[in-house]
Amino acid sequence: MATELRLGSSFMKYGTVTSLLVVLLAYWYRSPFQGSGLDERLDAVLSSLLRAESKVGVNSVSRPKVAIGFGGCVDIIVDGVELLNKIGLPPTDQPLHHDIIENAEQLAQSFAYFFGPGAASERFVMNETLFSLLVEASRELPGNRWSVGGNAPVMAGRMATEGCDVLLGGTFSTDFNDVLSEHITVAGNSVDEPDIHLIMEYPSGATWGPYTSRRANRYIVHSDDHNPYLDSMEAFEEKLRDFQPHLLVVGGLQMMDNFPFKQGEREALLGHLSGLLQSASAETSVHFEMASFVDEELLAELLERVVPFADSLGMNEQELPNLLSLFRGSNVTVLSDPNPRVATVLDQMRELYRLVNALHAESGPARGRALTRLHVHTLAFQAMIVTRGSQWKNTMSATAKASLTANRHVCGSAHIDPSKARLIMDESFSVSRRAGSQRIPLEESRPVSCWHEDDYEICVAPVLVCTEVYQTAGGGDNISAAGLVLQI
Ligand SMILES: *[C@@H]1O[C@H](CO)[C@@H](O)[C@H](O)[C@H]1NC(C)=O
Ligand SMILES: *[C@@H]1O[C@H](CO)[C@@H](O)[C@H](O)[C@H]1NC(C)=O
Ligand SMILES: *[C@@H]1O[C@H](CO)[C@@H](O)[C@H](O)[C@H]1NC(C)=O
Repeated sequence: MATELRLGSSFMKYGTVTSLLVVLLAYWYRSPFQGSGLDERLDAVLSSLLRAESKVGVNSVSRPKVAIGFGGCVDIIVDGVELLNKIGLPPTDQPLHHDIIENAEQLAQSFAYFFGPGAASERFVMNETLFSLLVEASRELPGNRWSVGGNAPVMAGRMATEGCDVLLGGTFSTDFNDVLSEHITVAGNSVDEPDIHLIMEYPSGATWGPYTSRRANRYIVHSDDHNPYLDSMEAFEEKLRDFQPHLLVVGGLQMMDNFPFKQGEREALLGHLSGLLQSASAETSVHFEMASFVDEELLAELLERVVPFADSLGMNEQELPNLLSLFRGSNVTVLSDPNPRVATVLDQMRELYRLVNALHAESGPARGRALTRLHVHTLAFQAMIVTRGSQWKNTMSATAKASLTANRHVCGSAHIDPSKARLIMDESFSVSRRAGSQRIPLEESRPVSCWHEDDYEICVAPVLVCTEVYQTAGGGDNISAAGLVLQI
């Protein structure tokens, strides 16, 4: 099924905003005083964020226990455009969305669809010849890199680095187990040939034929054999009982998206997972990390079997409107504005929070958990909604840490270099798109803004956007995990 790319009004608006920004920036740079003022502002925001992050720490003596599922893979990371050039795939004149990729032409169309706007995407390749060809070509590309991949292992790695003891549900090769931190215990089988994910990265302003990317991002393709089946679930479930974690994290379910399961297979797997979540003790908080889904039936099932049993949800600016549209009973939105305004995101977050909790209230307190935490990561800022009086601590510091982790991950360095960073959030933001809404200035000395509404607290932190991109893939996982560790 293919849908034609239509540049919606939000993109047109975005275009206007961009040109306005360009004019403003040009003015800024020309002015001799404000040029250095910009650097000073960045330095001030950075030191304030670092201070906010270090206000609380993870208890390194009684290390918090976190269980994370599912899956894992080996990532091969290449420059997306270089790879397409290498295999001789010419730029298509027809950007199209495809649920799955069956041939090279569809790959070109699908890549073009997301590359221009710079939206993160992940697709299943249902053509092993094509996938092998892509992986072989990637192996030969200069500058390629291999790394431990998959949402669960990346989150596990970050949690272990931050001072947690981790139980990781995944299927790995034995040499892969050796590179994991000593604080990670794997539950799951060993395999000889792990699944490979091909990460096609591109920087902001990259060109492919007539297309220019508006922001750095990645397009991911895979052809998994193990991950869609949640292979490690049983072993994980068994170890979970004794492990008694403070936090249980579920991610990686997008590997099931558009996978050619046999009749009833996926439903059985998700039923099993749902049971696992429901049997988690009241002392264990549950977090579900969203991802790039386009299969509406799968998303609907997640809304039924996973979301109601999670206390916390994490997602990016694409996944938020996607999930919300399904909640409202309309089709999934495959592509949204990759650089939304704070007010837009906050309104969507409020609506999602309200809808999930209304559903919970309807189904009765005996069933499932109320949503008490919602974290949305975008390029320009981090935003969290946390229910007051809930188990989640330190929301302000957690938002700051998530923001700093975004720069650290994308720049590929724990040390943040202000000369490789840029603030793209406006000097003040409106808390909602509703007319007459309050505006909050971005204060350099207190860059994380937190306030109360209804029964929850909202925190927003600007991101020091990395300008020398090392890697975008895995960013959401590192960011989400970094936010969580300070809250358990
Ligand atoms: C799979 O990909 C190969 C390599 O691009 C191509 O030759 C073949 O036609 C594709 N198969 C299908 C069924 O599209
Ligand atoms: C929305 O989904 C329905 C049912 O799957 C489909 O018939 C319709 O064409 C979709 N609409 C759009 C705009 O994609
Ligand atoms: C993100 O997580 C991966 C896997 O744990 C790790 O290798 C990488 O260094 C992390 N990024 C940052 C900035 O810590």
